[in-house]
Amino acid sequence: MRTLNQILNKIDSEDELTKDNFKFLLQLKNRGDIDLLFRKAYEIKQKYVGNKTYFRGIVELSNICRKDCYYCGIRRSNKNVNRFVLKEEQILSAAKWAYENNYGSVVLQSGERNDKAFIEFIEKTLMEIKKLSDGELGITISFGEQSYDTYKRWFEAGAHRYLLRIETSNPEHYKKLHPPDHFFEERLNCLKMIKDIGYQTGTGVMIGLPFQTVDDLVSDLFFFKEFDIDMLGMGPYLVNEDTPLAKEFLNFEEKKDEQYLLGLKMIACARILLRDVNIASTTALQALKYSGREMGLLAGANIIMPNITPMEYREAYQLYDNKPCIDDDAELCLDCLKQRIYGIESEIGYGEWGDSPHFKKKNLINNI
Ligand code: 5AD
Ligand code: FES
Repeated sequence: MRTLNQILNKIDSEDELTKDNFKFLLQLKNRGDIDLLFRKAYEIKQKYVGNKTYFRGIVELSNICRKDCYYCGIRRSNKNVNRFVLKEEQILSAAKWAYENNYGSVVLQSGERNDKAFIEFIEKTLMEIKKLSDGELGITISFGEQSYDTYKRWFEAGAHRYLLRIETSNPEHYKKLHPPDHFFEERLNCLKMIKDIGYQTGTGVMIGLPFQTVDDLVSDLFFFKEFDIDMLGMGPYLVNEDTPLAKEFLNFEEKKDEQYLLGLKMIACARILLRDVNIASTTALQALKYSGREMGLLAGANIIMPNITPMEYREAYQLYDNKPCIDDDAELCLDCLKQRIYGIESEIGYGEWGDSPHFKKKNLINNI
């Protein structure tokens, strides 16, 4: 059995990117060892994507959802949620704020809907955001599973990145997290369409889920690699007491530290394996530790998604319990974020799209 140092010293070489090595890294328990892993991932981040952190202001524009995922607080069966949809002008004013504050990009996300009114509403909103920013604001969208046609329409309206988490790359595991009419194959097919249309494609999983093994997590990492993704957004699973999956994860309070470290270890491993993709340090990390998102950056992530949803709607978008930043408005969030990013000596990529070098490289090759 090789030691941690032996593995980390060679991990820059392609031959060392093996499932066994990643399983070993994900299972590290000693805090000193885990810090060595983070340091290595940080070094690889500097080498392949640089030291900048890019902001994507996220607007959670509606919590109405036609799906019923067992883990998610805004699933359609949860009656303890006040459902809302932002008005177009509210979304535009959030986007304008992001633009004026030099955020390079915005992310629009919501529960899943596929009715005609919604499709048109999003299409129109995308075009308006492009207009108000002279085409300068980058737009990422995350509206779940849609038809090829819809994905295409939204792409043509101005969105150029799409986030659709696979949630787990193991189809059997997927079945345990979703009702019988939610299909792994369907989700995979959607990801293929998104890529095919030309979006920068982002996916991700939840980490530390009930029924998940360390081998599943290793497979998730290799799924990202094989699918050749451009962006990654993943975070620890957090219990929402109003959901069926909560009963599969007892004593969550006692296991928070473990969840948090596992989340960070996955980010570090993803950076080591995928090298030049964009990786988000997600809010779910911050929900577990006050400085969780900065730690994500130190463990290899390079993207932060500050919440710019109007204050009065944040309470109702709780995918999991104790979501942070529900009481801080966008201005406060920004100041506190700047301090935090400078605190770890990273620069902010103001006004830049900050596309993943991976995507740029692929396109360069395709254009030759
Ligand atoms: N804990 C952590 N992440 C969650 N998500 C949904 N519910 C939870 C939860 N309880 C994540 C899913 C989804 C994304 C929008 O939020 O991965 O794709
Ligand atoms: Fe809305 Fe899963 S509950 S997509």
